[in-house]
Amino acid sequence: MKIARRVESLPPYLFVEISRKIAEKKAKGEEVISFAIGDPDIPTPSHIIDRLCQAAQDPANHRYPETEGLPELRQAIANWYKKRFDVSLDADKEVLPLIGSKEGVAHIAWCFIDPGDTALVPDPAYPVFAVSTMLAGGKPYYMPLVAENNFLPDLDTIPTHVLEKAKLLWINYPNNPTGSVADIDFFNKVVKFARQHDLAVCHDAPYTEVAFDGYQPVSFMQAEGAKEVGVEFHSLSKSYNMTGWRIGMVVGSAAMVNALKVLKSNLDSGIPQAIQYAAIEALTGPQNCIEEHNAIYQRRRDLIVDILNSIGLEAKPPKASLYIWAKVPQGYTSAKLATDLLEKVGVVVTPGTGYGRYGEGYVRVSLTIPDAGLVKGLSRLAGWHNTKKIV
Ligand SMILES: Cc1ncc(COP(=O)(O)O)c(C=O)c1O
Repeated sequence: MKIARRVESLPPYLFVEISRKIAEKKAKGEEVISFAIGDPDIPTPSHIIDRLCQAAQDPANHRYPETEGLPELRQAIANWYKKRFDVSLDADKEVLPLIGSKEGVAHIAWCFIDPGDTALVPDPAYPVFAVSTMLAGGKPYYMPLVAENNFLPDLDTIPTHVLEKAKLLWINYPNNPTGSVADIDFFNKVVKFARQHDLAVCHDAPYTEVAFDGYQPVSFMQAEGAKEVGVEFHSLSKSYNMTGWRIGMVVGSAAMVNALKVLKSNLDSGIPQAIQYAAIEALTGPQNCIEEHNAIYQRRRDLIVDILNSIGLEAKPPKASLYIWAKVPQGYTSAKLATDLLEKVGVVVTPGTGYGRYGEGYVRVSLTIPDAGLVKGLSRLAGWHNTKKIV
């Protein structure tokens, strides 16, 4: 049996590797505190679960769903965009529910990248942007995200010969892993740039509802003309603590949405309908859970940022997202620091290099750690400082 080169050449998915290391430690009887994965620890709000259970009892929901999802769900998504961002969407042509946003993010490359084409991909970034490009036979061109430019790509420095082959432009704000945000001026610039160079824009935006200190992230769809050049991927995962249910959406350019629908109709059989009804409940039901969750994350953010700075990891409180992007102390690489923390105090953080070359010098610390683990984790981090001094 021979595995295809396209799979053999894939690196192990970042978190598979981290989970393996954690399992190794646990097998030795050691307790590990993980600040690695951005997976909300707070349960899905009960009104959403109740709707899911009720819908699961209905035999109509035991059968194959339609690829394009329930019309009521597409309309709920369109209404949510109108209410939250004042963006009008045609629920039939400009909205497509997804089996989690990762699914759509991974598949859209097949709609726009032919072998030899280029996708413009941020570095550091969610690894799926580059990997899906490569699986479709394309080449990622990495746009550095650096602190000096507020972790926004400098579009003006992309060489002409790259732009000639580029078909897709990936952006993601609030950003994973840097926790940075973009304003409407940046998104307007992206629309202009996409028009100039005939690019399809994919904005990955699962974190717009996770924000702090009263800040409200904007949508790419609010930019003038965004719908003509691009789409936005969104998700219920982080807004409503629904990572386990696998439901998200793509909205925007009717041509792009339709291309993805055509591809998906050949690959999957839609989203279980009971989960679609739960998603409708999430989007149309009480929204106070978002503020409640953000208050919890904000408190954790402040505690973590304080301790990181006190032990020599320079960190600023992010305005949004579930992540703190902390600079490693002098004398460490990202990997060396992550290994040291795991070995000496049993704390897991994600090395920045897991997200690309420009992640070197940083580690990502997630806010999705339950309070009991958080207290222990913070005291272990403080203890790491002491082990450093003794050495
Ligand atoms: C930037 C980014 N995009 C997409 C996803 C996937 O989210 P979903 O659960 O909707 O598939 C994640 C998850 O961590 C993410 O960080």
